[in-house]
Amino acid sequence: MAAIKILPDIYSVGVVDWNVRNFHGHTYTTQRGSTYNAYLVIDEKIALVDTVYGPFARELIENIKEIIPPEKIDYIIANHVETDHSGALPSIMQLCPKAKILGTAKCKEGLYKHYYGDWDFQVVKTGDKLKLGRRTLSFIEAPMIHWPDSMFTYSPQDSLLMPNDAFGQHFATSERFDDQVDQCALMDEAEKYYANILWPLGSVILKKIQEIQKLNIPIKMIAPSHGVIWRKDPLKIINSYISWAKGETKNKVVIVYETMWGATEKMAKKIASGIQAAGAEVKLYEVAQSDRTEVITQMLSAKGFLFGSSTHDNDMLPNIAAFLEIVKGLKPKGRQISFFGSYGWVGGAVKEMQEVLEDSGADFTISPISFKYVPDKTELENCFEFGSKFAGLLRKEI
Ligand code: FEO
Repeated sequence: MAAIKILPDIYSVGVVDWNVRNFHGHTYTTQRGSTYNAYLVIDEKIALVDTVYGPFARELIENIKEIIPPEKIDYIIANHVETDHSGALPSIMQLCPKAKILGTAKCKEGLYKHYYGDWDFQVVKTGDKLKLGRRTLSFIEAPMIHWPDSMFTYSPQDSLLMPNDAFGQHFATSERFDDQVDQCALMDEAEKYYANILWPLGSVILKKIQEIQKLNIPIKMIAPSHGVIWRKDPLKIINSYISWAKGETKNKVVIVYETMWGATEKMAKKIASGIQAAGAEVKLYEVAQSDRTEVITQMLSAKGFLFGSSTHDNDMLPNIAAFLEIVKGLKPKGRQISFFGSYGWVGGAVKEMQEVLEDSGADFTISPISFKYVPDKTELENCFEFGSKFAGLLRKEI
């Protein structure tokens, strides 16, 4: 994709990765592809804000060449070390070896440990400024949003915030702005991004948003490092982040299960009926057949989760085991969780599932339910009651 002017003398020079379907080493499915955004600020001095993923270095360089010869770049702002934003840095530095790189102390350390480049690096902290001419960029450290090195760059003259990963979306489009794309698809991707990358960092994100609000800086445009730029209503995505970070949920239950011969699935469906009858929304996923990224996105707005597994070798089945390891990492504080499953001669799955999530910060008010072999009529009625009771508890809590 060609360079696009986003503001006077500021260009989007990043690239679209139409075909990426797995991100972060298969932890995130990107059904709509992604973009790696970089921004070129032209003034008396020229700054490039971030680069792109390494395999796209040539495309980035071609985009920069549409505006200026790359050797004219004076500064490279490295908001984040991760390779999808720094991978093209060695190629850029070959073209402008005298350019100075600016980033946090952790960024300096991280870039060195990735590329071992002998580069001129200036460490910056919150409040530090870089005068380019008419514009003066300023920096806001943002550790753990979502790496220790992360930083936001702000241009007061443009009321433009370039926060790297924050407020991004894995959303490949030929359009560059929020008002040019389907709003449902955009918010779906923004929520997916938050749920799968930022969920455990809610308290850090809330504090950072409050810190920025206290700075009282106008923000008319947010240009993240993935997806489209928020220019129509930047407050929309900021408010969504506040809501997600506060853990605001609705009366909704997500059931995720794995079944060996169908008995646990029977339980799952009856439990879902009980939840529905109690007036709550319910989503049901057989884990091995479901898109894990989508399931976690659905969980972000759910007050309760139910996990089910048949017992195999006194333990849960392997796909649900892998999924629960991810749930543990999300630290789903304040969510209600319980478990269910069928077993043969001895149980084990329900106990093992609960043990995985014991320290996750979730609440386990309703005791798990499990039955031998295939549940009979009475046991299925018990599953229905279990679902109704679980949904009733959520209603009380909301
Ligand atoms: Fe888009 Fe943390 O990299």
